[in-house]
Amino acid sequence: MELRTQRLLLRPWRDDDREPFAELNADPEVMRYFQAPLTRAQSDALAERAGSTIAERGWGLWAVEAVDVAPFIGFIGLAEPRFEAHFTPAVEIGWRLARAHWGRGYATEGAHATAAFAFDELGLDEIVSFTTVTNEPSRRVMERLGMTHDEADDFEHPNLAPGDPLRTHVLYRLRRG
Ligand SMILES: CC(C)(COP(=O)(O)OP(=O)(O)OC[C@H]1O[C@@H](n2cnc3c(N)ncnc32)[C@H](O)[C@@H]1OP(=O)(O)O)[C@@H](O)C(=O)NCCC(=O)NCCS
Repeated sequence: MELRTQRLLLRPWRDDDREPFAELNADPEVMRYFQAPLTRAQSDALAERAGSTIAERGWGLWAVEAVDVAPFIGFIGLAEPRFEAHFTPAVEIGWRLARAHWGRGYATEGAHATAAFAFDELGLDEIVSFTTVTNEPSRRVMERLGMTHDEADDFEHPNLAPGDPLRTHVLYRLRRG
C-alpha cells in the first residue's frame, strides 16, 4: 500500500533507504528530543521493522519520497506503541524527516494523508500522537492536523527513567471527523 499526496509518495521501504535513514538518525538535531542519535545497526533495525510491518499488514511507518526532489526524506505513518500506558492499545501517527527537508510542510502533508487512511481505510475511530513536552515542532504538526491536547492525558514515558528531562510526554488525539 502506498499513499500519494501533492508532493509526496509514502511507500514501502527499499534497501537504498538505509543509508540516508542512518544519516538522519545520526543527526543530533533530528534526534534532539530522543535519548540519543541511533547507531547504524539501530537505524537499520528500525528500517527493517517498519518495512516488514508494512509488508505483512499493508500499513505502518512508510518511507517518504519527495517526488522530483529526493528519493528518501524520512518516515511518516502509523504505529502501535509497544509500551503500556493509560491510552494503549492505540494507533499512533508519527514522523521523522531529515533536517534538509524541514520547513516545507512535508510532515503535515504526509500526516494528513496518513490520518485519512487511518479513518477511511482502516476504519479507526481515533488516532493519537505523543512527544516529549518540549518538542514544539512536532506539537505544531499535531496542531496543524487538528489534533487536540488535554493535560489530563499527559504521561510519564515508561521507557524513560524517573528524572530524565524527556520523560514527561503530551498526548494528542484526533477522532474520526
Ligand atoms: C517534527 C518534524 C517532522 C517537523 O518538521 P517541520 O518541517 O517543522 O513540519 P512540516 O513539514 O509540517 O512543515 C511545517 C513548517 O513548514 C512551513 N512551510 C513552508 N512551506 C510550507 C508549505 N508549502 N506548506 C505548509 N507549510 C509550509 C510552515 O510554516 C511550518 O513552519 P513553522 O512550524 O516554523 O511555522 C521535524 O522537526 C523532525 O523530523 N523532527 C525530528 C524527529 C521528531 O522529533 N519527530 C517527532 C517525534 S514524536
